[in-house]
Amino acid sequence: MMKVSQWLLQTLLCVLVFLKIEGTTEVGITIIEGAVANGAVCLDGSPPAYQFDAGSGEGLHNWLLHIQGGGWCNSIEDCHTRTYSLYGSSKKMKSSDYNFTGILSNKQDLNPNFYNWNRVAMRYCDGSSFTGDVEAVDPGTNLHFRGARVFNVIVDELLGKGMKNASNVLLSGSSAGGLASILHCDKFRAFFPTNTRVKCVSDAGYFAHVKDISGEYKFEGYYDQVVTLHESSKNLYPECTSKMKPSLCFYPQFAMPYVKTPVFILHSTYDTFQVQNIWATPQADPKGLFAKCKQDINVCSSDQIQRLKDFRSDFLNALLVVGNGSSRGWFVNNCFTHGQCEYQSKWLGNPSSRLNHKAIAEAVGDWFYDRSTIQMIDSQNVLPHYCNN
Ligand SMILES: *[C@@H]1O[C@H](CO)[C@@H](O)[C@H](O)[C@H]1NC(C)=O
Ligand SMILES: *[C@@H]1O[C@H](CO)[C@@H](O)[C@H](O)[C@H]1NC(C)=O
Ligand SMILES: *[C@@H]1O[C@H](CO)[C@@H](O)[C@H](O)[C@H]1NC(C)=O
Repeated sequence: MMKVSQWLLQTLLCVLVFLKIEGTTEVGITIIEGAVANGAVCLDGSPPAYQFDAGSGEGLHNWLLHIQGGGWCNSIEDCHTRTYSLYGSSKKMKSSDYNFTGILSNKQDLNPNFYNWNRVAMRYCDGSSFTGDVEAVDPGTNLHFRGARVFNVIVDELLGKGMKNASNVLLSGSSAGGLASILHCDKFRAFFPTNTRVKCVSDAGYFAHVKDISGEYKFEGYYDQVVTLHESSKNLYPECTSKMKPSLCFYPQFAMPYVKTPVFILHSTYDTFQVQNIWATPQADPKGLFAKCKQDINVCSSDQIQRLKDFRSDFLNALLVVGNGSSRGWFVNNCFTHGQCEYQSKWLGNPSSRLNHKAIAEAVGDWFYDRSTIQMIDSQNVLPHYCNN
């Protein structure tokens, strides 16, 4: 018996050493049970969650908060369906469904600027890019629309874990999380003293208000429903909501003029989510003329490629409001992809995602530390293309 347990112990030690040396990308989940008392909960009423990997060395006083994406929900039925998934309930979350790679990696060669920071993944379970705050619980479904409270409770918890004393803080996010990083940027900044360096990065979060292929703005109605259902307007930039329909302020291009904190936009002009779900939607394309092309650009006709190029121009026009001030940064390529900072190959490695030989990981680091101005748009290779190795 002794021998078996010794063997077990040795094996266990070997596995632990192996994980330490090879590095694991899996980081445990922390559930904030105490948040339930404040009503800061996921759609199904379960407590919010995050994953935390402690910093080391020179990174000890630096914090990266990365907001997970996952679309939105715009109706009771749609949000109720979400409660059966990790995007609506912490009960469905596992640490292995969100690994720490790319911007969250703890390896210097894979993530040179942030690898030794305190790194946090803010898990997304509210369906409103963390903007909802409805006191009433839906009686029929027990749905809670409390995304904004979830955001605050996770930030509070991290402030107490040492983020309060941080020197450098970066709020990033991808997709619906990239939108959240813009919508929350100034409020987040206000949690810190003025001498803390605080900046925001939005990856694939610049959902543009542009004409779809029918020449209309049909997607706007979807954001109307999201913002109404979650009562998001009170958590959008007030300088914006006082000037226009609040749901328009859910779009970065209408919110950005009011964001005072430095923001970096990482995006592809041919973002697959926008091409498929905002531009060539079934509503805008009832005959399905773009059904194949929007899935695989290799099968697009030359007319369809021209239409995509027009979409690219519209997207770039929508980006103009970001301005070229010194606190703004952007890295915009023409890859047919969605989200580029969580995936190791796009973040650092893959040569075809780079601009002027600079990897996204380097560009974001240079901008964060004010090493150089990063305002890069790929105007050479303008056709949509796959950025693989
Ligand atoms: C995360 O990594 C684990 C192995 O550590 C793997 O089993 C899992 O599939 C990965 N999850 C995702 C979403 O890639
Ligand atoms: C912040 O720093 C102060 C002074 O060094 C220390 O007393 C306090 O415990 C720190 N707070 C956190 C949350 O680490
Ligand atoms: C910044 O934008 C302004 C207004 O669009 C333009 O006049 C100016 O030339 C731009 N500056 C640079 C350095 O691109």
